[in-house]
Amino acid sequence: MPAPHPDISIRAAVDGDLGALLALEHASFTSDHLSRRQYRQHLHSATADVLAAADAVGLLGKAVVFYRAGSDIARLYSIAVAERARGRGVAKALMAAVEVAARRRQCARLRLEVRKGNTAAIALYERLGFRRFGEKRGFYEDGADAWRYEKRLTRDE
Ligand SMILES: CC(C)(COP(=O)(O)OP(=O)(O)OC[C@H]1O[C@@H](n2cnc3c(N)ncnc32)[C@H](O)[C@@H]1OP(=O)(O)O)[C@@H](O)C(=O)NCCC(=O)NCCS
Repeated sequence: MPAPHPDISIRAAVDGDLGALLALEHASFTSDHLSRRQYRQHLHSATADVLAAADAVGLLGKAVVFYRAGSDIARLYSIAVAERARGRGVAKALMAAVEVAARRRQCARLRLEVRKGNTAAIALYERLGFRRFGEKRGFYEDGADAWRYEKRLTRDE
């Protein structure tokens, strides 16, 4: 899988990452946190991928992707990079790995929601070719609205 730096690996998250995943979750988001129980479920779910970016020191980032039986649309539920590692291409590498994982499951599209006003994430998605196609009002637990984005996944990328 692609990585931004030779010392950084992108891999499937494992139970041993749970503590670091939760710490990153709470450091990165003000609401809508995944719980330890939910992470543990997703780590072992046939309809989810939890990807981790890590270096020798520890977890740098994560992405959570959901799939549905009978649907060729993958959903990026969450992505976050630790503050100490931001701006170094870790999210870009995680997103590349997410696309590889979604294609492996025969998905033709990748969709996501992003909080309106999250300029860093919106810039990331638009730079990677995601197209805004709608919105969800009051999508987040705190009542904030979301933009909906989609990217078509070509077979040979
Ligand atoms: C959004 C986030 C995941 C980006 O992670 P990152 O590893 O710093 O991003 P990268 O270094 O891979 O940057 C990739 C691209 O994203 C965009 N980007 C990233 N951070 C940005 C910022 N602060 N301002 C503007 N654009 C930004 C740029 O287009 C960048 O490409 P470039 O460097 O070639 O211009 C990170 O800021 C984060 O974890 N934020 C908190 C959690 C969050 O909001 N997650 C998204 C929920 S929908």
